[in-house]
Amino acid sequence: MADDLHGYIALITGGSSGLGYEMAKQLLRQGATVIIAARGGKRLEEAREKLSAIGDVRAVAMDVRDEASVEQAAAWVAERFDHLDMAVSNAGIGNNAPGMEDLPPDHRFYDIPVSAVRAVLDTNLMGYFLVARRFVPLLMKRGGSLVYVSTSTGTITRPGQFPYGPSKAGGEAMCAILAEELRDAGIAVNVICPGGFTDTNMAPKGAAEAMRENGRPVLPPTVLNETISFLASPASAGITGEKIVGKDLDAWLKARGITFHRA
Ligand SMILES: NC(=O)c1ccc[n+]([C@@H]2O[C@H](COP(=O)([O-])OP(=O)(O)OC[C@H]3O[C@@H](n4cnc5c(N)ncnc54)[C@H](OP(=O)(O)O)[C@@H]3O)[C@@H](O)[C@H]2O)c1
Repeated sequence: MADDLHGYIALITGGSSGLGYEMAKQLLRQGATVIIAARGGKRLEEAREKLSAIGDVRAVAMDVRDEASVEQAAAWVAERFDHLDMAVSNAGIGNNAPGMEDLPPDHRFYDIPVSAVRAVLDTNLMGYFLVARRFVPLLMKRGGSLVYVSTSTGTITRPGQFPYGPSKAGGEAMCAILAEELRDAGIAVNVICPGGFTDTNMAPKGAAEAMRENGRPVLPPTVLNETISFLASPASAGITGEKIVGKDLDAWLKARGITFHRA
């Protein structure tokens, strides 16, 4: 049996879709209260409604690129909760950034509109900074955990992955710094990633089918569920400054001699 998370409070940015939505589902099933955040509108409300069949889910509009929006969302959370146990910075965009949709697969970095580069860096890197900066005080109340959703190490420098790769490299560097700076406050800071192409709204329509047809692996959007359960569990006590690849969680745990009873 996985740990019972009743009384545990988690914020998940990008909780309206894909990996964030599935991680929310997972923590809700274990009894946690989960606050999902996204830019707002129909998708966020529909996600909240569906997840409310599982447990105590709240939804708050928060555009992670926008300091005022993050400020408002943090105030909204602080009005309702006296602390947070976990904040997952999962909101992200990649080659689906507005202005990149019609680029050919073999495009070069100089073909990408500057606005698209800014949007990716603002979401994946500045967004992480803005969220961490504003939510860390709530995490500090009881020594919570900050989680950054990144990508595979190979993707970070792979041709065709500008500016997505560098945005995630920056996020990972920030995690390494935060892990040290927040160690004394008892806040764990870890990076997680799926470990390959994952079938979510981030990929262009039809991409997952094409990959399956070509015999290439496609991960399900639930690939990070056990990893997030692990990081929410007492079994992860003392784990900070790590990068955990969701599809390789078992090997990671085994290499460290950690026993984790999963959901
Ligand atoms: N799919 C993959 O193959 C893959 C692989 C490695 C890592 N990742 C990472 O996994 C994370 C989740 O992506 P996904 O694959 O689940 O994609 P997804 O289904 O497109 O979900 C992205 C989420 O981010 C939210 N979001 C985007 N911009 C935002 C903003 N400015 N403010 C707040 N929320 C914002 C979206 O919500 P709204 O649009 O409703 O605002 C949505 O909930 C990303 O960080 C991504 O880089 C994905």
